[in-house]
Amino acid sequence: MSILITQNLSKTYALGHNSVPVLHDVNVIVNAGEQIALIGPSGVGKSTLLHLLGALDRATSGEITCDGQAYSKLTSDELAQLRGRKIGFVFQSHHLLPEFTALENVLMPAMLGGGANGNAEQRARDLLSRVGLGHRLSHRPGELSGGECQRVAVARSLVNSPSLLIADEPTGNLDGEAAKAVQELMLGLTREQGTTLIVATHNLELAGAMQRILRVHDGTVSDDSSR
Ligand SMILES: Nc1ncnc2c1ncn2[C@@H]1O[C@H](COP(=O)(O)OP(=O)(O)OP(=O)(O)O)[C@@H](O)[C@H]1O
Ligand SMILES: [Mg+2]
Repeated sequence: MSILITQNLSKTYALGHNSVPVLHDVNVIVNAGEQIALIGPSGVGKSTLLHLLGALDRATSGEITCDGQAYSKLTSDELAQLRGRKIGFVFQSHHLLPEFTALENVLMPAMLGGGANGNAEQRARDLLSRVGLGHRLSHRPGELSGGECQRVAVARSLVNSPSLLIADEPTGNLDGEAAKAVQELMLGLTREQGTTLIVATHNLELAGAMQRILRVHDGTVSDDSSR
């Protein structure tokens, strides 16, 4: 069963009087539960594609359908709702809110989705324990290491039990050990919950651990693996 479909997707940025074409004719079908690495050299359009798939930006033309909902037919508010309900996002740099604790940061998407109840708080605590930070609940980002912040970001991305987790070079700023820990957590937690995972990465070890590899090249995307 497919969870995400792109049809002739394209993105051209407008920059002053210039237009910057990045993606064209991207046709991808992602099946529920798949774990996919998105690879390609710097500047090729990986983040651009992830932002489109995660409903953080609008395509120039073409369509994305997630769980049967066509993005082009949704208002900005409806897209935000879809994002909150179905999609988790992990950015390259964690994007945690500096004035809130680890626990509050993880709870944030649940609160935005209509008030965090006791269940959400318990889930946030559980997730933080799972990423090895049960003893750091009340630390603010400035009181955590880079790898710990990234683990909080992984916990936050999963608090609403998304069906799709999108991660943009989640281990890009981490050293070998910390990168491996974050990678194993993401793979383990998503596999356990049947969450579909799409992760852009330059880390070949991480890419190699995924079932399927999509390569961005020449402005479009092709399947790099039939493994
Ligand atoms: N807002 C923008 N306006 C104009 N051009 C942009 C904008 N954002 C990105 N670009 C251009 O689009 C291209 C693709 O950028 P993108 O961030 O998607 O690359 P990437 O594959 O994620 O690279 P990296 O591996 O370095 O993260 C780049 O050439 C970049 O300069
Ligand atoms: Mg990028």
